[in-house]
Amino acid sequence: MLVLGIETSCDETSAAVVEDGRLLSNITRSQLFHSAYGGVVPELASREHQKLIVPIVEAALAKAHVSKDRLDGVAAVYGPGLIGSILVGLSFGKAYAFGLGIPFVGVNHMQAHVVSNLIEDPKPGFPFLNLTASGGHTQLVKVQSPLEYTVLGETRDDAAGEAFDKVAKMLGIGYPGGPLIDRIAKNGNPRAVTFPRSFLDDPSFDFSFSGLKTSVLYYLRRMEYDAAGRTLRGKGGKEAEGFVADVCASFQSAVVEVLVEKTLRAARQFDLPEIAVAGGVAANSELRAHLQTQSAAEGRRVFTPPIEFCTDNGAMVALAGYYRLLAGARSEFELAAVPNLELHG
Ligand code: KG4
Ligand code: ZN
Repeated sequence: MLVLGIETSCDETSAAVVEDGRLLSNITRSQLFHSAYGGVVPELASREHQKLIVPIVEAALAKAHVSKDRLDGVAAVYGPGLIGSILVGLSFGKAYAFGLGIPFVGVNHMQAHVVSNLIEDPKPGFPFLNLTASGGHTQLVKVQSPLEYTVLGETRDDAAGEAFDKVAKMLGIGYPGGPLIDRIAKNGNPRAVTFPRSFLDDPSFDFSFSGLKTSVLYYLRRMEYDAAGRTLRGKGGKEAEGFVADVCASFQSAVVEVLVEKTLRAARQFDLPEIAVAGGVAANSELRAHLQTQSAAEGRRVFTPPIEFCTDNGAMVALAGYYRLLAGARSEFELAAVPNLELHG
């Protein structure tokens, strides 16, 4: 079964082809120009998707050496995400399937992230625990099969990636914040500033990152840091640079500590020996390292997909679509985009 998958829920235009669940191609274009605005501008994102969707789908088919008439189904994300962005991939996917006379299936973006761990070997065995941490979501999910989930906990306010992006903005270092903070943090001291570990005392598997973000903001004000000039008490140079590196390292370790601790607690409580991570924040080097060592210390195995499958990509959508089509799922062409779509098992 040949399935085309389309992802346009935020600022990545991506398409992929899978054959019987095996990945043949995955072409992703990230909209880097949003960095000039310090965040994704929804209207510009959807316009860019519109420009890119045809060439990206054609490139994915060409790389897979598959002509469109051989496709057996089309899958596209219908939520959650930015409505204008989702609509481009969703409308395109529906029209493509309609034109070819083949089934169409809508895919939940959060289900796709979970499935990103099943694209390449080594893959976790069922049931496993999945931590999805991205710019829009932070969620702990027990995965019973490619189509069955139990959401154990999620963020009550900001997503982990959103906190990275907002703190990077406060520091004036650019967008997206995750990869920049990850890099700069390597030169800083994670114990330089003690930021709050929100919700660590709470017995639930929920997260909260907005208090941490505010605490960084107050700290920067108190230290008289100016983001526009990247100066500390009016001065730039080595001292200001060192200060930024320390804030990055201290902030990152606060996020990572909470993510790792809650993930391991859930793994213990639900007796899940295999843990997988997904979403853009799963690319974080400190998160990967800490989760690996701490899980290994209690005999658990961690699966981290390659970075191209951590951030938004068509491969995870094509694979999720493949599982859904295989199970007989079909979506109506009336299927609407749902910006705040939740994950249900
Ligand atoms: O999964 P994704 O590409 O898109 C969403 O569905 O949100 O995740 C993007 C998020 C951004 O917030 C970005 O700052 C964050 O993932 N991110 C990282 C890293 N790379 C990307 N956060 C921490 N460390 C990284 N290395
Ligand atoms: Zn995502």
